[in-house]
Amino acid sequence: QQHPFDLLIFTQRWPITACYEWRKTGKGHICGLPTPATIWTIHGIWPTKWNTIGPAFCNKSAIFDPSQLTPIEQQLKEHWLNVEKNKPDDSLWEHEWLKHGTCAAEAIEQLNTESKYFQQGLTWLEQHSVDVAFASSGGIQPGYNYSLATLNKALFDYYGKDVAIECFYDHETRQQLLNEIRICFDKQLQSADCDGIVGMERTVVPDSRVSTVISNCNAAKPIFIPASVPNYVQPKVRDPETVYETIYEITKEQEIGQQQTYEEFVEVILV
Ligand SMILES: *[C@@H]1O[C@H](CO)[C@@H](O)[C@H](O)[C@H]1NC(C)=O
Ligand SMILES: *[C@@H]1O[C@H](CO)[C@@H](O)[C@H](O)[C@H]1NC(C)=O
Repeated sequence: QQHPFDLLIFTQRWPITACYEWRKTGKGHICGLPTPATIWTIHGIWPTKWNTIGPAFCNKSAIFDPSQLTPIEQQLKEHWLNVEKNKPDDSLWEHEWLKHGTCAAEAIEQLNTESKYFQQGLTWLEQHSVDVAFASSGGIQPGYNYSLATLNKALFDYYGKDVAIECFYDHETRQQLLNEIRICFDKQLQSADCDGIVGMERTVVPDSRVSTVISNCNAAKPIFIPASVPNYVQPKVRDPETVYETIYEITKEQEIGQQQTYEEFVEVILV
């Protein structure tokens, strides 16, 4: 094996947080959500060496062939969707395959083609969905705050392993939003604890039944699971005399038998 690794990280994302983050990271960024928006979707399967990022882009001559995904394209569009609407639907799949899939393919027979890699993601989502984990644990729901200990307990009770809990920290509102749940597998595709992921340290959670949680979240603060993409105001100082304020709004309009999403972009020059 040319690019050794220890773990496969199966990452599920909360698309509402992913959308929010995407919209904040660039003017004109438009995001797309699944229907309903409140379902966990797949981000990727990432071969990872303990305490190292990657390996990544293991086959420089690999190309992404979208035609291999035609049989499962509809499922991928629902469950492995690209929230970054400014880009083609399949740009996420291309990225995941070339960056991560080509590394998994070197070592793991069950992941050694594009179609096997993406099918495995869909299978794992069916077997290990965070939606089911949260529902079965006494109802962790969007629209509320939870402590890191509560989220971890729900996930541990369901999976029987330590997963990694990833937060997006919103500097404007100073809130942390739940962003991703990472479930780990060894190279035999057996569940494993998610120790050794860069950026996801074991955090001590005081006064709880679990002693440590693998996370980048602040264990002392609540974690919000947004039920819809928060509106926000992002001041950007371009020069001392001009302050631009950017407002994005998403208006969701539902008609009978038809659902449409409108994105509005308004730039307001304050001074
Ligand atoms: C790299 O990708 C090319 C093109 O798909 C393929 O023919 C080759 O077998 C791959 N190499 C390895 C080591 O997987
Ligand atoms: C969640 O916690 C934050 C920070 O303490 C607070 O500002 C917010 O109002 C809370 N939201 C809900 C829905 O409880």
